[in-house]
Amino acid sequence: MDINGLSAIVTGGASGLGKATAMMLAAQGAKVAIFDLNEEAGKAVASELGGIYVGVNVADDASVAAGLDMVEAAHGVARILVNCAGVAPAIKTVGKENVPHPLDTFAKTVTVNLIGTFNVISKFSARLAAAEEIDGERGVIVNTASVAAYDGQIGQAAYSASKGGVVGMTLPIARDLAQHKIRVMTIAPGIFLTPMLEAFPQNVKDALGAQVPHPSRLGKPAEYAQLVESIVRNPMLNGDVIRLDGAIRMAPR
Ligand SMILES: NC(=O)c1ccc[n+]([C@@H]2O[C@H](COP(=O)([O-])OP(=O)(O)OC[C@H]3O[C@@H](n4cnc5c(N)ncnc54)[C@H](O)[C@@H]3O)[C@@H](O)[C@H]2O)c1
Repeated sequence: MDINGLSAIVTGGASGLGKATAMMLAAQGAKVAIFDLNEEAGKAVASELGGIYVGVNVADDASVAAGLDMVEAAHGVARILVNCAGVAPAIKTVGKENVPHPLDTFAKTVTVNLIGTFNVISKFSARLAAAEEIDGERGVIVNTASVAAYDGQIGQAAYSASKGGVVGMTLPIARDLAQHKIRVMTIAPGIFLTPMLEAFPQNVKDALGAQVPHPSRLGKPAEYAQLVESIVRNPMLNGDVIRLDGAIRMAPR
């Protein structure tokens, strides 16, 4: 799809991979809406790129429905959806002094990363299904999993479960939405230099980068955004997961 002039939504667009994607889409001429819980950062990014910030909790039914109403009123029906909102706790299944993993944290991780992603996909697609086709398709969805879906590390049971769910639902959703001519792809990033990692000391960042076979460094958010652009533009990309990781296979810790 040609991006220019289309209405686009980026969840988690206030920060990191989502922010880089929102900037890329705006630079390509899209009308961008950011769905995020971080109002201050979301508004700052929206004003920088000339789009809108909508305070949305992706895991909440009514919040997503209201957010989609606002986008449609401001920019028209959204054609591009990039799901980047996510949380990443690090807790072992059995912790110190044999304390079990708190169930509420496990549930919250799955609720935001997996159920939240599906919540936005289904509501976005239901509206888009009624829109006109453009050059033989209606729109494109890009989800964000993680290499932790395949090689999750110690402490990543909840995170890996949530991202494994995103990987697993990619093909059936693409099959469901084929009749509506909406494509669905998922990116599984390796280690990217986003605010979460920027706070780490330089020697820790260097050590993480050194684990990547080639290029031996952390990924740049703009490189994630570049793959989103390719996915949106290439009409044959559908129903699959692309690892974007410099060939890293994560060690247990
Ligand atoms: N950075 C990495 O190395 C990396 C690697 C693999 C996968 N990922 C995934 O990429 C995505 C983006 O990661 P990032 O590093 O840019 O993280 P980030 O923390 O910089 O950004 C995530 C954004 O999601 C928002 N968010 C969280 N919960 C939300 C909710 N319920 N509703 C709406 N917004 C919510 C946050 O406010 C934040 O702005 C995440 O899904 C993450 O799991 C990141």
